[in-house]
Amino acid sequence: MMEQPALPPVTLTELDQLAQRAATVIARLRDRLYAPGTEKQLDLTFNVRKAAEMVGRSEKLIRDAEGDGRLPMPDKDPDTGRRTGYNLADVNRMREVFGTLPHRGPNDPAMVLAVQNFKGGVGKSTVTVHLAQYLALKGYRVCVVDCDSQASTTSMFGLNPDVDVDEDEDTLYPFFRHGGPKSLHYALRATYWPGVALIPANLGLYDAEYEFAARMAREQSFVLDRLRAGIETIQDQFDVILMDPPPALGMLSLSVLRAANALIIPAPPNNIDFGSTAHFLKMMGATLNELAEHGGARDYAFVKILATKMNDQKSAHIAIKRMMDAVFPMDSLSAVLKDSAEIDNATANLSSVYELTGPGTRTDTHKRCRAYLDAVNREIEVLIRKTWPSHYPALRKEGLL
Ligand SMILES: Nc1ncnc2c1ncn2[C@@H]1O[C@H](COP(=O)(O)OP(=O)(O)O)[C@@H](O)[C@H]1O
Ligand SMILES: [Mg+2]
Repeated sequence: MMEQPALPPVTLTELDQLAQRAATVIARLRDRLYAPGTEKQLDLTFNVRKAAEMVGRSEKLIRDAEGDGRLPMPDKDPDTGRRTGYNLADVNRMREVFGTLPHRGPNDPAMVLAVQNFKGGVGKSTVTVHLAQYLALKGYRVCVVDCDSQASTTSMFGLNPDVDVDEDEDTLYPFFRHGGPKSLHYALRATYWPGVALIPANLGLYDAEYEFAARMAREQSFVLDRLRAGIETIQDQFDVILMDPPPALGMLSLSVLRAANALIIPAPPNNIDFGSTAHFLKMMGATLNELAEHGGARDYAFVKILATKMNDQKSAHIAIKRMMDAVFPMDSLSAVLKDSAEIDNATANLSSVYELTGPGTRTDTHKRCRAYLDAVNREIEVLIRKTWPSHYPALRKEGLL
């Protein structure tokens, strides 16, 4: 008699069942997060003091402009008669009236920034989403290009990748196909964040890797520069284009490296992640050199390592961060994105920390987390502005140049 194996093999049928059950869980989670018929909305409102600070003009100037019709009168709550506050679109209208929108000048290059590391889970999507929203709050025109078929960034912007995104029409995928569209306009869509446009992703985008691999032998530079060419067709409308690449060294990641004119490299200061970041840097160097041989070198305006998920209760994190600073003194951002339950909780609900409202935002945990995020994003904002000559006088006045 044959002995039964201690662990019976898992059959394909069982794997299928497992996948189906996982899909059910995901569907339930999504039903909870995207109630039917509701679109995600931005609830952020600002009182006149906060609006004045964001606009860079006094409350009085805002009231005057409302009084003389240059700005609409603010909405009032029909029950209490009190002002309901301004939303981000209102604040941007004020900036327009007062000439304080921070847009790049007509001769400044659009910033095409990739948040890249070939490792998953290091905080690429978290950094991308929070940077996009931070810049939108400041009044910049931002485009987020989700290049990752796992589509976390797409989900964070309120879309259900399986339902709201058609892989044959809405993602980068058609653009990469043989005989695809001439420009990327078809894929651009507005989000519920004023000032943030999105090119979404879903699982279908993964097929672009095969498509690319098949064409790579014959049309290497066409393939590698396709994304760069696509971005050039839409960059007029934006100050900053942020790319969130997949966590792997594939054709899409290489295209992102080619399309970007600056890089932020998120790297948690722990052995394993930092080891893989070191590996990423080495591979990136080799890959960029190889790419340069096939069609021109690529210079970056800046390449900065950002320590993410840093826990300064852990001596290993502190030690590795110190080493990072010693090895890359010029190449590390001085701000650090600390490990924060606030970020983890927000992303678990497909939200960002910047769009939370209510009593939770008055806690110390929330305030600390916003302070880390703002410090990181402000530093990146200054690096971006330093690539825009029209911003030099303002940067000098602010003591930043
Ligand atoms: N600073 C942080 N503090 C706590 N959790 C974080 C932080 N940054 C990212 N995370 C969490 O880590 C996970 C992976 O982050 P993500 O941005 O999706 O990484 P990647 O895009 O590189 O794969 C997410 O669950 C996210 O909420
Ligand atoms: Mg990601």
